[in-house]
Amino acid sequence: MRAFSIFSTFALAQQLVVATSENDLEPSLPEQLFLDLHVQEVITNTSGMEVVEPWASMYVQAINERRFGDAVWARYHISGDVEDGIIDGTNQTVLETIEEDAREYRVNEPDYYATALAFYNQTSTTDKHAEVLNLIKRIGDEDISKIEKRKTYGISCSRNYLANSNGCLQLIEHMSQSKAYIGNRRAIYSWGSCYLRVGPYHGSGTDFNYWTAHAVAKLIEDECAYVPPCCNYKKTSGYSPKNGGHRKICLSSKRSGCS
Ligand SMILES: *[C@@H]1O[C@H](CO)[C@@H](O)[C@H](O)[C@H]1NC(C)=O
Ligand SMILES: *[C@@H]1O[C@H](CO)[C@@H](O)[C@H](O)[C@H]1NC(C)=O
Ligand SMILES: *[C@@H]1O[C@H](CO)[C@@H](O)[C@H](O)[C@H]1NC(C)=O
Repeated sequence: MRAFSIFSTFALAQQLVVATSENDLEPSLPEQLFLDLHVQEVITNTSGMEVVEPWASMYVQAINERRFGDAVWARYHISGDVEDGIIDGTNQTVLETIEEDAREYRVNEPDYYATALAFYNQTSTTDKHAEVLNLIKRIGDEDISKIEKRKTYGISCSRNYLANSNGCLQLIEHMSQSKAYIGNRRAIYSWGSCYLRVGPYHGSGTDFNYWTAHAVAKLIEDECAYVPPCCNYKKTSGYSPKNGGHRKICLSSKRSGCS
């Protein structure tokens, strides 16, 4: 009996240690796809991207009050890049951008998409942005075979969401190159208009470390930087699609998405 009770105390103590250290290493996101910034990191302004008021406080408050449509709406305004309802550097409205991200997530992250639908179903009755959640739900009901599949290899360059290459070069120079795993985080680093993001976290099996993210960012910069007709300086936008071995990595001016 005595041996048993010592053992069970020990096992419990061990479980507590495991639970605590897992929480420390990988605090969970409010939701993996659309609410991809940790509340605590938004509060302390350490989320890996610029966050501005009043949207930062609105994001935190909406999540605490379980008004999830309001929270997603705040998330898509949080970097202060929306003017007259249009996201800077694009000609897309906030809703059009959410719709674009939702289609990509639906194709590339079907399991997380189903989890998101169940999560958003619990939104508070005081939520003021039901249209956002309805949009996410509508895309959840679309026939997936009609949504174009993306290529899943190599580095792809894009002509959308062009970031100034100078910012990307600074980002590459200043970001962490540590061998620590990225874990449950999406926004890695930003500099000027250039943002480095990674796809949703699916456990340690497909995760990679900052050192690898840095190497891929450099590769995207090398392959994708070009001088577009508008400008007389280089711009960059590209990504490395997810595959069996790793999460997607995106380097562009886009502050959301990447799946
Ligand atoms: C976060 O920090 C950035 C720059 O360091 C600043 O521009 C921004 O206003 C800060 N956001 C908040 C909510 O304090
Ligand atoms: C985006 O640009 C195209 C063509 O330049 C235009 O037809 C379309 O209405 C614009 N969309 C928005 C949301 O401004
Ligand atoms: C959302 O809630 C409705 C009604 O409570 C239920 O019928 C539906 O199955 C739920 N959907 C999900 C994805 O959980």
